Amino acid sequence: KFFEPQNLPLKGKQVIVSAGPTLERIDPVRYLSNFSSGKMGYAMAEAARDLGAAVTLVHGPVALPDPSGMTVIAIESAEQMLEAILSRYDAADYVIKAAAVADYRPKQAAQQKVKKQQGDTQMELERTPDILATLGAQKTHQLLIGFAAETNDVETYALDKLARKNADYIIANDVSKTDRGFGADQNIVTLYGHDFVQHFPSTSKRALAMQLLETIIAQSGVAK
Ligand code: CTP
Ligand code: CA
Repeated sequence: KFFEPQNLPLKGKQVIVSAGPTLERIDPVRYLSNFSSGKMGYAMAEAARDLGAAVTLVHGPVALPDPSGMTVIAIESAEQMLEAILSRYDAADYVIKAAAVADYRPKQAAQQKVKKQQGDTQMELERTPDILATLGAQKTHQLLIGFAAETNDVETYALDKLARKNADYIIANDVSKTDRGFGADQNIVTLYGHDFVQHFPSTSKRALAMQLLETIIAQSGVAK
């Protein structure tokens, strides 16, 4: 079905996908990070490729092989992910932010291993850049798709992120309900757009990624 040119709706389109966690160094042997296998982001990148797009996959540390047929950029921190995406943003038609970006980083990463000391139970943190919000603020023609993993009030938080980050769609995942989500091969999500909502029942991340992209393409028309 997808190998006929007329069935490649993303042919000629540039798609950037971010996937996996980011890692924020504390010192040479320690870091802050998020749970994220990268599987959903990788599935989104593969689906975009199979729909004909030229895909750039920007990923944090994951245990997945590089997918074929796309540009793959490995990064570590939120700052590096932001730079990698921003430098390609003008040329992009779609940005899919599936990465679980660490919200905080140590204010200063130590160059040498930090030793235990009496009373050293505090660490000074600062916020990482909000990549999706930065892209939203600089959006010209791009279609921006974010993800949200929530444990409660999923719709409220998803709609808040849609508005606050100037995204076009948020794909929300209730991680409290099931064993689906982190690390699993299956996922259950709800797609929120502006005046649009669609629930996707449990299915493989691969199939789900294709359904999500096809729905977004049908809803929004192919980006110019
Ligand atoms: N995101 C991002 N940069 C950040 C944090 C989040 O680009 N520093 C993106 C994620 O990749 C995702 C979306 O924003 O596409 C929502 O992430 P989430 O962690 O749910 O949102 P936050 O704004 O960080 O809110 P929360 O307090 O719920 O973590
Ligand atoms: Ca967050």
